[in-house]
Amino acid sequence: MKFLIINGPNINMLGIREPGIYGKENYEALLELCRKTGEDYGIEIECFQSNHEGAIVDKIQQAYGVMDGIVINPAAYTHTSIAILDALKAVQIPCVEVHISKVEEREAFRQISYAGQACFHTITGQGIAGYRMAIEALKEKLGH
Ligand code: DQA
Repeated sequence: MKFLIINGPNINMLGIREPGIYGKENYEALLELCRKTGEDYGIEIECFQSNHEGAIVDKIQQAYGVMDGIVINPAAYTHTSIAILDALKAVQIPCVEVHISKVEEREAFRQISYAGQACFHTITGQGIAGYRMAIEALKEKLGH
């Protein structure tokens, strides 16, 4: 089984960006957590981060026929990108949405999630631990 973990803009700045909201752990710690979770469950994990919407769309398209599941934190593109939503719908790969912060308790402009409409599950407010939970949710969904 192979899962793709996609992170959108500024997630590479974890640990530096607004630690009161996103925590003190950095992007490397997030990568390590995903790798370790994959090892624990015998799942191959590929991590991808981009600050560019089109690059994220390209990566989702390339996952077609290759990946069994996707964990995605589209970051700010969550609230703006119909292109990412359409790409997720196009490939029809089971997908879990993750947000490090509790988006539902934040600004009004964060209350819409386009990508979330293509996901069977959403995890918010768990810090980077949410990625482990997302991998577990995908694994269960796929009956493993
Ligand atoms: C985020 C929440 C988004 O609103 C924000 O733009 C981010 C990160 C989160 O993980 O909590 O960049 O997706």
